[in-house]
Amino acid sequence: MTVPHTARVGLLVLAATFFYTYVGQMVPQKEVLPPQETLIRADLTTDEMVKVGQEIMNGKGLCFTCHTLGKTEGPFRFPDMSGVDARAKTRVPGLSDVEYFAQSIYEPEKFIVPGFNPGMPVINKPPIGLTDQEILCVIAYLQTLGGTPTVTLQTSHQYYTPPGAAPPGAPGEAPVPAAASAPGAAPAAPAAAGAPPTAPATPAAAPAPAAPAKGTR
Ligand code: HEC
Repeated sequence: MTVPHTARVGLLVLAATFFYTYVGQMVPQKEVLPPQETLIRADLTTDEMVKVGQEIMNGKGLCFTCHTLGKTEGPFRFPDMSGVDARAKTRVPGLSDVEYFAQSIYEPEKFIVPGFNPGMPVINKPPIGLTDQEILCVIAYLQTLGGTPTVTLQTSHQYYTPPGAAPPGAPGEAPVPAAASAPGAAPAAPAAAGAPPTAPATPAAAPAPAAPAKGTR
């Protein structure tokens, strides 16, 4: 019984094809995607924003690589985030919790939490580079830590005015102090933790920097 030569070659080709197809299937198939841009729908509710904000703080915002949540024993290199909303309301006289959080995120050097050193990165610039919308979500989540979230994607603050929204200070919005900013900001008083917040220097007429153009990443 002789199998014709061509048939043998054909069989070998088929077997080899099946074999390599099989091996190919065993290799993990991984799709390489560009870094994920968190998609923020314009109609997110405040509750949904809280969830997105929490994900961002754990993930690409890198917040919890420095900050802790619920750490009770020192030493603290970075302020712990539990109950931060309650403190945010009184940290800087004239700044609401939302305005204070916005300032901590867009201009972290402006007010240094007593007992800590500067060192927080500017969050809306690379390498972290969160968008204004992502930052509103982060603020919504921060508000749940010791308070009740109030922000929506239509909330304005000193660094950002959503398209079509009234600028901060317009009727109907929470009043914003004329300019709660002083060049150089409050001195980085190395007061003991727990000391009353440093009073800010006299207000100067420094206008808040314009929010960076969207899409600057
Ligand atoms: C590299 C470390 C680092 C990262 C990353 C970081 N922070 Fe901070 N953060 C600090 C330091 C240091 C301070 C205290 C000094 C100061 O006031 O700037 C601070 C202060 C704060 C405060 C003020 C807390 C208070 O008790 O008043 C808030 C709010 C805050 N950070 C939020 C964030 C958020 C939100 C993120 C992520 C988007 C973030 N931080 C990422 C280091 C960091």
